[in-house]
Amino acid sequence: MKSIGVFDSGVGGLTVVKELIRQLPNENIVYFGDTARVPYGIKSRETVIRFSIENILFLLKQDVKLICVACNTASSLALPVIKNHFRVPIVGVITPGVREAVYASQNKRIGVIGTKGTIKSRTYEIEIKQLDSKVKVKALACPLFVPFVEEGWLKGEVVENVAKSYLKPLKDAGVDTVILGCTHYPLLRPVIQEILGKNVTLIDSAKQVAIEVKKILANEDLLNRSSGGKHRFFVSDNPEWFSGLAKRFIGKQLKDVRKVSNV
Ligand code: DGL
Repeated sequence: MKSIGVFDSGVGGLTVVKELIRQLPNENIVYFGDTARVPYGIKSRETVIRFSIENILFLLKQDVKLICVACNTASSLALPVIKNHFRVPIVGVITPGVREAVYASQNKRIGVIGTKGTIKSRTYEIEIKQLDSKVKVKALACPLFVPFVEEGWLKGEVVENVAKSYLKPLKDAGVDTVILGCTHYPLLRPVIQEILGKNVTLIDSAKQVAIEVKKILANEDLLNRSSGGKHRFFVSDNPEWFSGLAKRFIGKQLKDVRKVSNV
């Protein structure tokens, strides 16, 4: 029985896996976290493309029927270039989030936050404008959010002060919708919501990504009909570190995480 392959630069993509398991409980999932080379958010486009191709080739060896790029940075920098070069459908996290944001925004002002690489690529901006050219986009990098989440600093004075300073330009721009354009940011949702106010809609693309995956599998008659999907987790380094952090992202302990060298 073929699996859904998912990759991310590290542990953050588990937020997408959590939603895939919720919406597609019968599917087998193979996850690859590139923990040896994380973070992708500060790397060049060429490097992120090379890493992404290597990750996809690893997943293809695991007999996958679809690949989900859970990493926003890889989806922004690599996916536009590589998505049509493989024999399985590849789904990124940008388009599903963009669709939901454009649909949600009333005042046509949308904020996007992500890694430096994601913001510099302008992929979110380009896709939003393609969908609705009248939308004004304010895009900002929030590089300290990833280490905060990985260190478990999800609230408190330090995080709040940094978030206030990062998010001020979004408040000034009067956005009514903000895309959480990084795997880690949904864990900071309470702080971000508090600062931006309850009238701002925060978009976490995981749910839409799982809907998209389900749609593609259904259209291609690839949905698994037998029950009880199996989930396998691979990393390129530090399985203990990954397991320790996993609970924060997926809500349960992951015992069997295997280290592989895919490069
Ligand atoms: N997974 C990355 C993303 O969603 C964040 C961590 C990194 O920089 O590798 O953009």
